[in-house]
Amino acid sequence: MTSVALLRQVLDYANRPDPYPLYAELRRTPVVRDEAGPYLVSTYWEVRGLLHDPRISSDARNLTPEAAEATGQEQDPNLPPSFLRLDPPEHDRLRRLAMRPFGPPHTPRRVFEMHGELAGIVTGLIDDLRGRDSLDLVDDVSYPFPVTVICRILGVPREDETHFHEWADTIAAGLDPVGTAEERAAKMQAVQQARRDLAMYLAGLIEERRHAPRDDMLSALATEHGPDGQMSPVEMITTSVLLLIAGHETTVNLITNGMLTLLRHPDVLQRLRTEPDLAVPLVEELLRFEPPVQMLPQRTTLAEIEVAGTVIPKGASVYLMVASGNRDPQRFADPDRFVPDRPDNQHLGFGHGLHSCFGAPLARLEAQLALTELVRRLDAPQLVEDPPPYRQNAVLRGPRHLRLAIGGIR
Ligand code: HEM
Repeated sequence: MTSVALLRQVLDYANRPDPYPLYAELRRTPVVRDEAGPYLVSTYWEVRGLLHDPRISSDARNLTPEAAEATGQEQDPNLPPSFLRLDPPEHDRLRRLAMRPFGPPHTPRRVFEMHGELAGIVTGLIDDLRGRDSLDLVDDVSYPFPVTVICRILGVPREDETHFHEWADTIAAGLDPVGTAEERAAKMQAVQQARRDLAMYLAGLIEERRHAPRDDMLSALATEHGPDGQMSPVEMITTSVLLLIAGHETTVNLITNGMLTLLRHPDVLQRLRTEPDLAVPLVEELLRFEPPVQMLPQRTTLAEIEVAGTVIPKGASVYLMVASGNRDPQRFADPDRFVPDRPDNQHLGFGHGLHSCFGAPLARLEAQLALTELVRRLDAPQLVEDPPPYRQNAVLRGPRHLRLAIGGIR
């Protein structure tokens, strides 16, 4: 099969339940060009190398116009990119400023302090299932849990979620590079509109907090000054849009993929029941085995780069296939096996390098808590359908529903 056909197949909804055999085919050629479109990099060391390479940019303004058009990555003239899509030094300054309310980098103090509060939210959601003999894990636990948490951290009223749910979904779906050039252009318009709507909504809240600060992150962004100064008003808005979306559309898939994987491996589920400490390495293995972010389709080259014998020209669009790198037998022994206490598990599930996930300590803790509590309290959980129905998205991949039959709540 050609690389073009392979990318099309990875993006094809029919392959959402199991894209991994397609990645194995892709890895036969570590770097392939998809016709006039992107270069796909699918092997572990090449993906990881590029994530640390200063000649790689996340800023779509460095794409050639042809590459931007071919991959539907045109810029919004009205709202600048968030730091996810900026390079140093702007990226580093904004990331440092956003990190400040969370505590210094690599010491996720704030997250650690939230342990009791997070456990309380999960317990409450599971308590609400009393008297039921079935549930949809996505709607009942995996979605409301991280959304409640990110809303509390930012200081966004949870009741307003009904308004921004649709904007968040549109923005997340916009990451998928699917459809004809016209369809992609139409989708980009919708994404830019949703991002502007969400920006307007958050701008209103930031303004309120500037006048009446509370103990939340929007207030901290709006009022605190540090050694790096303060964000500009537009930077505060693009950063809060980024955090709200990132805290919304990813952890849900980690929790759902986690429960699905446990139900497919009942021996591991049973082990987690009796050995809750297993949750820590188990969540790392999930991030390798079923990563919520399957690929990073937003990189470009600042210079000509040779990767595994292929020369990628300057300004090209590059897709880093992280979920494929995670299954690379050159890096992981027996990569298609789920090994909950796999040693030396340096997966690419949170990316790597300077853009590596900012919310990783929070996402890890949320998934560890949710999965431990679910296996402890759900009596005799069983999958109603396997595979479950998936969300349309190929980049942020996960089930749309995970229906379970249960004997009750313990
Ligand atoms: C970046 C995955 C949860 C905030 C990233 C990246 C990945 C990722 C792969 C790298 C993107 C790139 O290199 O282009 C995940 C997964 C999550 C998760 C799998 C859940 C299981 C969160 C949460 C937050 C968050 C809860 C917010 C609190 C961010 C931000 C960035 C980022 C702000 C951009 C970092 C930068 O550009 O420096 N995430 N994420 N993420 N994530 Fe997460």
